[in-house]
Amino acid sequence: MQNTIQHKFEKEIIQVQTRDELEAVYQTYFARKSGSFSKLMQGLKDLSKDERKLYGKALNDMKMKMEKAYDSKKAELNKVELSAQIAKEHIDVTQPKLPVKERGHIHPRTQVRWQLEDVMSSMGFIVEDGPELESDYYVFDTLNIPSYHPARDTQDTFYIKNHPDWTMRSHVSNMQVRLMHKYNENGTKPIRAAYPGRTFRNEATDATHEHTFYQFEALMVDRHITIANLVGVIKELLHALYKRNIEVRLRPSYFPFVEPGFELDIKYVDTNKNEKWMEMLGCGLMHPNVLKAAGYDSHKWNGLAFGMGLDRLVLLKYGIEDIRFLMSCDLRFLKQF
Ligand code: PHE
Repeated sequence: MQNTIQHKFEKEIIQVQTRDELEAVYQTYFARKSGSFSKLMQGLKDLSKDERKLYGKALNDMKMKMEKAYDSKKAELNKVELSAQIAKEHIDVTQPKLPVKERGHIHPRTQVRWQLEDVMSSMGFIVEDGPELESDYYVFDTLNIPSYHPARDTQDTFYIKNHPDWTMRSHVSNMQVRLMHKYNENGTKPIRAAYPGRTFRNEATDATHEHTFYQFEALMVDRHITIANLVGVIKELLHALYKRNIEVRLRPSYFPFVEPGFELDIKYVDTNKNEKWMEMLGCGLMHPNVLKAAGYDSHKWNGLAFGMGLDRLVLLKYGIEDIRFLMSCDLRFLKQF
């Protein structure tokens, strides 16, 4: 009878699938009052002393075996449940790292612009931003560029539909008279200013031309400005940017808003170790008509101005061969600088 109970118990236990089922089986045998095994134990007290001793030992052995079966089933079920949980919460460490959000990167053009701005402000120049959509008054008229001048040609300049006197500025020189109007107190104060900015020209895009590009310009007006001042400021700027002495030369050139006007070339050594001159920027002494437009007495005041393509400087500084990279927003390119 006792053995039958043990076998029945063991058989039932083998079949259970969950811990709840296991617990239920356990209770039918071992619940304090109603469990079938507990009842056997309770029956011991009705036996004689010797019988009690005999049966008691046998029952205890049985209980131990049944509990062992129960324990090992419980351990087995725990293991099954644990591995199910592990499978569910599994992390595949061999899975490739998912892309993380990348931090931005300072564009090489911005880096160069910041450097130029730093040098200019160290020489006492204010740095100002200006409008990209501009009246032809500041882009052309104040700069001694009359309405018949070819620079106004629509082949170069973007005009705004239904606004014949609005342009997307074709150079940042629009800032010259703008800034002088703003700061020279009706032609009574000197000024030093640098003004980087975005400019637009109706150009076919190729390796060295973009319809949208950046310029960096500066002007200085005082009582005794000379070409030596002009060259001195430019050399200082280039020296700071390229971290070496730069040999420069001036070639006469024509810009309506300077007189005399020059192109400034810089000397560089090409990959075959040949010395070469490269055209770098336009410059000159401020034309009297510009000084007048700004409210100065052109007999008492004079000035200098120079302007260059910012992208050009960037290409040169880093040895980049195509200007279109600068507009590409391609991080593989941009992160190299
Ligand atoms: N504005 C001229 C250009 O866009 C550059 C320049 C600036 C030339 C100042 C002379 C003086 O090419």
